[in-house]
Amino acid sequence: MDQKLELLQQKIAEAKLGGGEKRIASQHQKGKLTARERIHFLLDEGSFEEIGMFVTHRCNDFGMDKQIVPGDGVVTGYGTVHGRLVYVFSQDFTVFGGSLSETHAEKICKIMDLAMKNGAPVIGLNDSGGARIQEGVNSLGGYADIFFRNVRSSGVIPQISAIMGPCAGGAVYSPAMTDFTIMVEHTSYMFVTGPNVVKTVTNEEVTAEELGGAHTHATKSGVTHLTAVNGLDCIEKIKKLLSYIPQNCEEKTPRLPYELGDELREQLTDLIPENANQPYDMREVIRGIVDEDSFFEIHEEWAENIVVGFARLAGRSIGIVGNQPISLAGVLDVNSSRKGARFVRFCDCFNIPLLVLEDVPGFLPGTDQEWNGIIVNGAKLLYAFSEATVPRVTVITRKAYGGAYDVMNSKHIGADMNFAWPSAEIAVMGAKGASEIIFKKEISEAADPEAMLAQKEAEYKETFANPYRAAQRGFIDEVIDPKDTRRKLIKAFAMLENKVEKLPRKKHGNIPL
Ligand code: HXC
Repeated sequence: MDQKLELLQQKIAEAKLGGGEKRIASQHQKGKLTARERIHFLLDEGSFEEIGMFVTHRCNDFGMDKQIVPGDGVVTGYGTVHGRLVYVFSQDFTVFGGSLSETHAEKICKIMDLAMKNGAPVIGLNDSGGARIQEGVNSLGGYADIFFRNVRSSGVIPQISAIMGPCAGGAVYSPAMTDFTIMVEHTSYMFVTGPNVVKTVTNEEVTAEELGGAHTHATKSGVTHLTAVNGLDCIEKIKKLLSYIPQNCEEKTPRLPYELGDELREQLTDLIPENANQPYDMREVIRGIVDEDSFFEIHEEWAENIVVGFARLAGRSIGIVGNQPISLAGVLDVNSSRKGARFVRFCDCFNIPLLVLEDVPGFLPGTDQEWNGIIVNGAKLLYAFSEATVPRVTVITRKAYGGAYDVMNSKHIGADMNFAWPSAEIAVMGAKGASEIIFKKEISEAADPEAMLAQKEAEYKETFANPYRAAQRGFIDEVIDPKDTRRKLIKAFAMLENKVEKLPRKKHGNIPL
């Protein structure tokens, strides 16, 4: 018998007799689940069907021909989550560090192709040291085959990446091209290359945690959208995320049964502080509007001056983008613009209606922002909203100043319904700054410049610090009582349910990346 085949059969027999126990223990000792346990917890019981269990690598270099493991370090197949079809791959770190060989890549590509043909999400449970070093260009080619499919699938089917161990090289670039990344705290890392290579190349001493741990990517880089306290929590978050999104770009969003009742929410009445410079938490507004406990925040710890996430309104999934007054007064800067734009584009890909809650004093000025490209990054958010064809509704709760008024889903860039609370202030800038510029001469020549500034500020406020000018022009459709916001939004989104809007024929737009 062929020596390789004999070895393979021996390995399979061992696995059935519990020969994998050492491998299982090595994962458990690190506080990690095994590749198969992850799939077991993710999918509905008994729904998993494995594909490619007997695949082995084809490498003969560096003694690899004596190291044959059935499945080649990745478990692939399909099953259901809450009754809905998903495709899944789960990398096994105990087999060559979960590294990706040519055949390992072929297995992943096979399920990605099936997912595309059948219109269902792909979930990648990543635990891999990247391209298998012993295979050279074959493994690099394998990654490129996956990257190509990541891009071709983008916007057609949702792709979710869980990072469940130390991931490097291609194992982080593929997740970066998927829609959502979830990292497990303390046991997962993402870096182009690990601390040892960093030390050699840059002489920088850094721990794996500092370089690419969950906290780093959740707060500093924004590379991860969500974090989880352990493997099980990570899997629960994937399931929750899936519950808000459709199977593919042709489907409508999932909907839970809901019977209309008393939709007034008194808690919204006194939420805006008397003093316009005092902050409040936009999450309180969100919670006052959406179905109970339905808000699922994305990118919670990164660019906190904008809040994004999914929720349900009368049972139906929506995406929410809100300025956050408790962080930098809700100003738009480089990172918040990128965060908002990315989320808007995801929702637009997958037919998820958008609700915008606006309280924004403008774009953040200064050298740091200018040198980091606030112009092109702010433009991303403007572009994303302008391009979106899903139902789009805005509620201005307080400030809508300057360019940020235009950007935050204004009527002018295609929003369908624009509401304002009576506390809304819609102007080119705040009253003080505006008065100092346009009444400069009068103020400087006045006997009491301070009193003159105060008078001009009050005049300016009287004219612009309200929503009625905009409502007269039809830029605001209705000024609403805060406590009636939920009812108004339920009706507006129901009215927009069958919205059809087609973009002009083109190959694709050129978003300022
Ligand atoms: C082959 C690998 C491997 C790899 C790890 N292993 N990475 N084998 N190819 N890429 C093996 C190790 O030899 C070891 O085998 C086992 O997996 C566990 O690895 P350890 O180093 O002992 O684990 P740990 O200390 O937890 O460190 C994990 C790690 C580290 C941080 C991932 O292994 C590492 O830095 N690996 C290389 C990462 C890397 O630079 N990859 C980039 C590849 S290039 P034994 O037999 O001892 O158990 C790439 C380019 C793609 O991916 C294209 C991008 C655009």
